[in-house]
Amino acid sequence: MIKFKIAALAGDGIGPEVMHEAIKVLRAVGKAFSLQIEIKEAPVGWAGIDAAGKALPDPTLALCKSSDAILFGSVGLPGRDSTIPKEERPERAALLRLRKEFGLFANLRPVRLFRELSHACPLARERQGDGIDILVVRELTGGMYFGQPKKTETVSEGGQTFQRAIDTVVYTTPEIERIAHIAFRAARLRRRRVTSIDKANVLENGVLWREVVTALGKQYSDVALDHMLVDNAAMQLILRPTQFDVLLCENMFGDILSDEAAALAGSLGLLPSASLGATTGERTFGFYEPAGGTAPDIAGKNLANPIAQILSAALMLRYSFGLNDAAAAIESAVAKVIASGYRTGDILSPADSNAKRVGTSGMGEAIAALV
Ligand code: IPM
Ligand code: MG
Repeated sequence: MIKFKIAALAGDGIGPEVMHEAIKVLRAVGKAFSLQIEIKEAPVGWAGIDAAGKALPDPTLALCKSSDAILFGSVGLPGRDSTIPKEERPERAALLRLRKEFGLFANLRPVRLFRELSHACPLARERQGDGIDILVVRELTGGMYFGQPKKTETVSEGGQTFQRAIDTVVYTTPEIERIAHIAFRAARLRRRRVTSIDKANVLENGVLWREVVTALGKQYSDVALDHMLVDNAAMQLILRPTQFDVLLCENMFGDILSDEAAALAGSLGLLPSASLGATTGERTFGFYEPAGGTAPDIAGKNLANPIAQILSAALMLRYSFGLNDAAAAIESAVAKVIASGYRTGDILSPADSNAKRVGTSGMGEAIAALV
């Protein structure tokens, strides 16, 4: 009997090739742990537009609805985007639509610098301390991304006519509370420190955010909580990233700071992410995707690093299916492969005589073999 149904949506650019390796690793782990997993693939993004005229074709959405989790590649090809209205582009019509459709309010982005890859980190060694290990918890279905009104309008004022674009930031107490709970609980499994990010010196939303997080923090007296203004946080991430454990952010700040934090890990090709909805019964529906984008410049060349996609599959096993051992097996296979010198181009150091240069499929193969 099939117990875990996975919708695999590879998308555009490097999506299909890295997804291919993640599926390889999932099959290996399925075999090793006798898991009843079913993986069904469907087009999304430009691949969806090409196949069915829509970034999120109806059969793809239907497959997602009948699945327990979505393993997602990436969507969007900048070169093609000018030909189609913005509401129908993959970023909005597929990615944001899926986040809203499935209520994926909690975005977890772990950023870890592997010891062996400290050469790939843009910071000097002394700033890397004993290692960088940060979990960005980003609110994903509120704030400026979805707040209304959101529009561009033509305005006539003082004898002049011009365009005005409006985006709106809205947060409610329950929205802040539910994401803060996720951050505090995650901190309990780590170093028990939450840094909550806001702009409380200027924004109404920032004031409410800080008040609500402070009040909720009292329920987690075993977790140290502090608050930081977003501009200072952007600076601290570069100056002293080792001070951070869990960063709790609203949607837009989390978008920006998670890219900044990701740069510290040396390559976007290493970082997985999980986007979770509410837990019903014992299942948490989740959406799992690499942090990097479609990287069209290297697509189809067997150059992309599949590790982010493979680690995203591990997060899926852990968060949506509760398969902690199987998830850990993938994660430790990745760590071993890196320790034994396997390198795709993005993490290759010319100075490292131990390095074994591999392509996308070689990396996936090595990880699958170890699993
Ligand atoms: C991300 C991406 C998306 C976002 C874009 C592609 C809509 O940057 O997942 O961080 O802004 O959320
Ligand atoms: Mg982003």
